[in-house]
Amino acid sequence: MIIGSISENQEIEKRIAITPEVIKKYKSLGLDVHLSKNYGLNLGIKDEEYEQLGAKIIHEENEVLNLSDIVVQLGMLSDDKSSLLKESQILVGILNPYNNKDKLQKLVKKKINLFSLELLPRITRAQSMDILSSQSNLAGYKAVVESFANFEKVVPMMMTAAGTVPAAKVLVVGAGVAGLQAIATAKRMGAIVFATDVRMASKEQVESLGGKFLTVDGAENLETEGGYAKEASENFKKKQEDLLFETLKKIDIVICTALIPGKKAPLIIKEKMIDNMQPGSVIYDLAAIQGGNTAFSEVDKVIEKNGVKIIGESNILNKLPVSSSNLYAKNMFNFVENLFDKESKKIDIKLEDEIIEKTLIK
Ligand code: NAI
Repeated sequence: MIIGSISENQEIEKRIAITPEVIKKYKSLGLDVHLSKNYGLNLGIKDEEYEQLGAKIIHEENEVLNLSDIVVQLGMLSDDKSSLLKESQILVGILNPYNNKDKLQKLVKKKINLFSLELLPRITRAQSMDILSSQSNLAGYKAVVESFANFEKVVPMMMTAAGTVPAAKVLVVGAGVAGLQAIATAKRMGAIVFATDVRMASKEQVESLGGKFLTVDGAENLETEGGYAKEASENFKKKQEDLLFETLKKIDIVICTALIPGKKAPLIIKEKMIDNMQPGSVIYDLAAIQGGNTAFSEVDKVIEKNGVKIIGESNILNKLPVSSSNLYAKNMFNFVENLFDKESKKIDIKLEDEIIEKTLIK
């Protein structure tokens, strides 16, 4: 059997799904690995390195798609590439099922097996395949590094002969995977960190990292069984708004990570709150591509309002493509390995396996 991958559209995606580190692992499963020419070149990985590990480099991308039993990618293939897929081929990636519904349904009708890893259940056995966790964790870290680079003051408290420089105050909105890493990173760099979330379970996690949790008065726990957030009630939103309006007056840097699966990101930092912030403050909106948690935030732009910089990025992981590819490629391998029947060493799409059933597009 052959597993293959072709170069992503590098205008929008710099990560890769197969790194040299996983080639041997795939080979040990009995899979041949086929990659398109210059597959990892943007990350400094030459074709020869892949070849020395036993992968086959193929000049034509279409040929890779034609020969592979399993295709692994980052994002969804373009229309002309996905039209080349055939019955019973497998495609695994971040297929964005909420936005690509019609496109994916056409392929499902052709009996192509599509697995979208955003749909992975958050269960212990799936942790090693959890691309949302591995990538969000890095995104949370990088958002802090980027926002600190844009902040024109010092972050940690400094006591100098010329006087004391106060520590910067950071607010993290949404304390899921990205938010918790943002809290840990900002703390390590000496900031005073506050955080807020609609899931009460996150309070303890925030506090264990040394953050101060801002509890919305009378908040009910808005957590689904799967551990995600539910959309907040109007009453909650109003109370959260009042709390943030006051808090933001003294905050220097805001990292926004709040998401609700399958829905537009909640708008949390409103115009009047930004008007009230100190000039020189920075807001990094990791949710920009899902509609944004902040008024005025625009994808791939730095907007300045009232002296406050609002930064939105379509794919922050393009700024960490090596680390994020390394983790993604391992997640991907663990997912593919789970598709194999251990005895027959053949692909077995067992729908009784929750991981397979939940990620398969139907
Ligand atoms: P996410 O990326 O969907 O959302 C980020 C955060 O924003 C969440 O904590 C969410 O509660 C919060 N949020 C949504 N609306 C908000 C609002 N209006 N105001 C403030 N915060 C808001 O979530 P993520 O990071 O993927 O994590 C979801 C859950 O899954 C967490 O409980 C996490 O601990 C859990 N998890 C479990 C794993 C496991 O294997 N057991 C693995 C990874 C995550």
